[in-house]
Amino acid sequence: MATHKLLLLPGDGIGPEVTREVEKIVGWFRQRGVGFETETDLVGGSAYDAHGAAISEKAMDLAQAADAVLFGAVGGPKWDGVPYAVRPEAGLLRLRKDLGLFANLRPAICYPALADASSLKREVVEGLDIMIVRELTGGVYFGEPKEIVTLEDGSQRAVDTQLYTTAEVERITRVAFDLAKARRNKVSSAEKSNVMKTGVFWRQVVSRIHKAEFSDVQLEHVLADNCAMQLVRWPKQFDVIVTDNLFGDILSDIAAMLTGSLGMLPSASLGAEDPKTGRRKALYEPVHGSAPDIAGKGLANPIAMIGSFGMALRYSFGLSDEADRLDQAIANVLASGTRTKDIAAPGMNAVGTQEIGDQIVKELNALS
Ligand code: NAD
Ligand code: IPM
Ligand code: MN
Repeated sequence: MATHKLLLLPGDGIGPEVTREVEKIVGWFRQRGVGFETETDLVGGSAYDAHGAAISEKAMDLAQAADAVLFGAVGGPKWDGVPYAVRPEAGLLRLRKDLGLFANLRPAICYPALADASSLKREVVEGLDIMIVRELTGGVYFGEPKEIVTLEDGSQRAVDTQLYTTAEVERITRVAFDLAKARRNKVSSAEKSNVMKTGVFWRQVVSRIHKAEFSDVQLEHVLADNCAMQLVRWPKQFDVIVTDNLFGDILSDIAAMLTGSLGMLPSASLGAEDPKTGRRKALYEPVHGSAPDIAGKGLANPIAMIGSFGMALRYSFGLSDEADRLDQAIANVLASGTRTKDIAAPGMNAVGTQEIGDQIVKELNALS
């Protein structure tokens, strides 16, 4: 039996709470004969408290050696004052950069039972199934210079650098087109080519790759601000949206609310395929953060985290039947009316984080 090495990095805030629930699901698959071997380490504020860094070298080595990393969430007001280089979020950014996880897949799917949980009208979100492909290791997140400079007159100037290379845009474009081919055959590329040189460049590269390699897929270019508006106006016009690191961050939080809650959105952060082994480095992370406002209260929705593990089954382990079964179990739990507060309908009794994990395990049993 093949053994899959998983590294769990629960992190801060609700990270450990939702990770405990995903461990129940991992345990269920292990009992059914899927060979998962897990290790756990610190990241974010908890790593800073223990080591003075947002991730230790040992945890980085474990992440490099793992078949997949399951990441909870990092950050929180406790670490507001720590030096910028070691703030909790730096741990996540280092993982993405050092593991080369350039492709962040953020699917926004509105489960049938949740069509009324969104802040938008049922007909706008019912049946929604879109995929945001966010470039994750470039752009303004990593471009240099990135600094606050004090000038001679004592005033200051701050700079972040939005920077993209041909290779960076080409590879994320190919990921988006490949995904679209297995979906509804449409890619919407979002940038600001009306204002930004990197936007002009992004549009040129996407168009060239489209023409040369994917001319059978429909391509549209959309300005990122319009894309944000279109996502809340009529999101079902989209299939795959490909965009840069910063726009992808913002557009995916918007898309989350189309599914009912930020607590519903999973993601997969993937590296390049190793030509020898066909494998990719991968980290699976909910789109949400550490939710300091509800941390420690047992209120967090663990479905984004559990769905992220579902993406690991699909993208890292080739276990698509198992991933489908997990999706079905989640859909059944939601249909039964068992929900955390963020997605509970008015008048519905909300349950806690642990109850959702337990009910999904129960549904997995019922489905097998
Ligand atoms: P957040 O995503 O943590 O929370 C935004 C809102 O959504 C809050 O009201 C929160 O209660 C709610 N929410 C989020 N996840 C939820 C869940 N699973 N169930 C129910 N409700 C949920 O964003 P924020 O408040 O802007 O950021 C808090 C901290 O998290 C910051 O330090 C930020 O940098 C960090 N952050 C980390 C990640 C990550 O680790 N991947 C992602 C985003 C933000
Ligand atoms: C996300 C988060 C991160 C980002 C932060 C925590 C670094 O918001 O994954 O969406 O901005 O990429
Ligand atoms: Mn974000």
